[in-house]
Amino acid sequence: MTAPLRSGEPTVVQVALNERAYDIVIGRGLLASLGTRIKELRSGARVALVTDESVARHHLAAAEAALKSAGIEAARITVPDGEGSKSYATFEKVCEAIVAARIERGDLVVALGGGVIGDLAGFAAASVRRGLDFVQVPTTLLAQVDSSVGGKTGINSRHGKNLVGAFHQPVMVIADTALLDTLPKRQFRAGYAEVAKYGLLGDAAFFAWLEKNWQDVFNGGPAREHAIAVCCRAKAGIVARDERETGERALLNLGHTFGHALEAGCGFSDRLLHGEAVALGMVLAFDFSARKRLIAAAEAERARAHLAAVGLPTHIKDIAGGVPGVDELMDLIAQDKKVKRGKLTFILVRGIGQAFIANDVDAAEVRAFLAEQFK
Ligand SMILES: NC(=O)c1ccc[n+]([C@@H]2O[C@H](COP(=O)([O-])OP(=O)(O)OC[C@H]3O[C@@H](n4cnc5c(N)ncnc54)[C@H](O)[C@@H]3O)[C@@H](O)[C@H]2O)c1
Ligand SMILES: [Zn+2]
Repeated sequence: MTAPLRSGEPTVVQVALNERAYDIVIGRGLLASLGTRIKELRSGARVALVTDESVARHHLAAAEAALKSAGIEAARITVPDGEGSKSYATFEKVCEAIVAARIERGDLVVALGGGVIGDLAGFAAASVRRGLDFVQVPTTLLAQVDSSVGGKTGINSRHGKNLVGAFHQPVMVIADTALLDTLPKRQFRAGYAEVAKYGLLGDAAFFAWLEKNWQDVFNGGPAREHAIAVCCRAKAGIVARDERETGERALLNLGHTFGHALEAGCGFSDRLLHGEAVALGMVLAFDFSARKRLIAAAEAERARAHLAAVGLPTHIKDIAGGVPGVDELMDLIAQDKKVKRGKLTFILVRGIGQAFIANDVDAAEVRAFLAEQFK
């Protein structure tokens, strides 16, 4: 699986993308070194620091102090919390603020926040002056293991999520695991679904480790750092081999086709967070694989049991307020971008840690399977 647990020194994971290669630095208390790390990377650079209101309340002062102590001037750009900020209106505000702060080529945009801020600030950085370099300082578990790595940036369209955006890799990712201490428990748990995803899709030994150590990951300390490093290493490897998602990168969508349909069916509301939808989606992907006799039912049950143990939803009926019926879910699945020439593409499994891309999934079979979920 991985290197043993360690503490003290931060862990560095490299994303090997030739001239766009960068480091992900993972460790407790790293925010204090933000200024010196930026100075080492880009001496003399000015910084636009993009964040949201909740993150600002908890961590902006420390981030600004870290920059100031290294003599770095920073313009502060704060947007409202939540998915609503991945909009044209907020994108315009952020771009205009970056320009107004006279951030130029050679300067840096710093995204301090969760996936919303990373996607929004990253897309603004990709766009202003045809591309400014940017640094990710992810503050949610989801952002530390997933959204801050790999260079997908963007905002939402009225036609759907993440439809307007760019591939734009950061020049550095600084994942301070202590920042997660202020994250609401429900948000942490939702992010944990993406942690479990790495085990379920490609690393059975990591999944077994999580079954034993998940409580320590929640509590912080070396186990949390270790888990985040394993996930970043897995994602960095996949991104380096398939940056533009022409193949293997699609494995990261395990649980996401079912998950997106459920999320959309809940109107992308607080009733079902993204990670919660992914947990449910992964259970459905495992159960569907069992129905197709690709894996034993007991193996699917093992995946479900772990997600349930950490408190994630694992049955459609766990969703407060319910979801639309099979017809609407099938429409939502068909609208999903992973549809090629009428056939549905799903990430299915041959076992824990053995996900594969199935391009030829029969829609009628999916419909019958979903109907069973409502019985
Ligand atoms: N680019 C990618 O590859 C990729 C991958 C997965 C998800 N995403 C995107 O990420 C977004 C979801 O990200 P998210 O789950 O991080 O949500 P988020 O950014 O909305 O953060 C969740 C909430 O937690 C608050 N918060 C963040 N850090 C905090 C902290 N340390 N302490 C206290 N509160 C804190 C935020 O203000 C927000 O209210 C979605 O828009 C999704 O599309 C992108
Ligand atoms: Zn996801």
